[in-house]
Amino acid sequence: MRIRDFLPADLLRGNVVFVTGGGSGINLGIARHFAALGANLAICGRTRETLEAAADELRGLGATVVAEVADVRDYDAVAAVLATSEAQLGPVDVVVCGAAGNFLCPVANLSAKGFKTVIEIDLLGSFNAAKAAFEQLKRTRGSLIFISAGQAFLPFPLQAHAGAAKAGVDNLMRNLALEWGALGIRSNSIAPGPIAETEGMRRLAVGKMRELVVQSIPLARLGTVDDIGEAAVFLASPLASFITGTVLLVDGGQTLHGSGLMTGLMMSPKAG
Ligand code: HXC
Repeated sequence: MRIRDFLPADLLRGNVVFVTGGGSGINLGIARHFAALGANLAICGRTRETLEAAADELRGLGATVVAEVADVRDYDAVAAVLATSEAQLGPVDVVVCGAAGNFLCPVANLSAKGFKTVIEIDLLGSFNAAKAAFEQLKRTRGSLIFISAGQAFLPFPLQAHAGAAKAGVDNLMRNLALEWGALGIRSNSIAPGPIAETEGMRRLAVGKMRELVVQSIPLARLGTVDDIGEAAVFLASPLASFITGTVLLVDGGQTLHGSGLMTGLMMSPKAG
């Protein structure tokens, strides 16, 4: 089944969607779903080749695409992408703050720079995109979608940096729901569980760990980028017009087990 089997193919015709980190993985999956429903896309990332390949794919779905190199840690670079996008596509309707960085590392081995790097990509990067888009979102009465994670509310071992960053992202999301709600701007997070074929899974679920992770998910499968794309389209669409300030878990029920499960998995000798 494709998104067009559920929703009218012109549901988001003419909408402008900006996705940070939109060149690959979950974020490209989200961009693909918006393109399939008629939206035009602006994407940014750090690698030109990755962005160009993604842009070609999105154009193949009928979208007009702006693809610019920008590191989300650099406010001016993000603002420049949004200015180009506004000039070429019009003001932005949906901002997806998806760019993220992560690795497995115990705090005992984590340098201050390593911690700061993840906070800057995930949290500061999300702030930069939301803040730089504010004037455009005011005009469109648009919406923000942040990409969070279970680590934001459950401590997972080897993930202190990512958990702190994503907890900050969700708190920022709620603050923006409060402060910008009267302007018609909605703000929500999606917290994906383990998603197949992503950089996150390649980094976080190595060796036997992948199998153990699947066994830990109540729905007994890894998520797909399409699962997250569909959730993003829902949150941005008129179907969710009274939803703001929420974290939508799209994790197959994995976090129902609490942090004990991930602690057991991460520390398991079988996971190596
Ligand atoms: C310990 C590490 C490390 C590792 C980097 N560092 N990798 N520390 N274990 N595996 C430390 C470095 O030693 C350095 O500190 C500091 O982090 C900065 O590293 P750089 O390589 O200079 O940073 P940069 O080039 O900016 O790269 C950022 C990155 C990198 C996050 C470290 O991995 C990256 O670019 N990732 C982007 C892609 C990515 O991670 N995708 C997965 C997203 S998955 P010192 O002190 O040594 O100089 C995801 C899922 C989220 O986000 C779900 C959970 C929240």
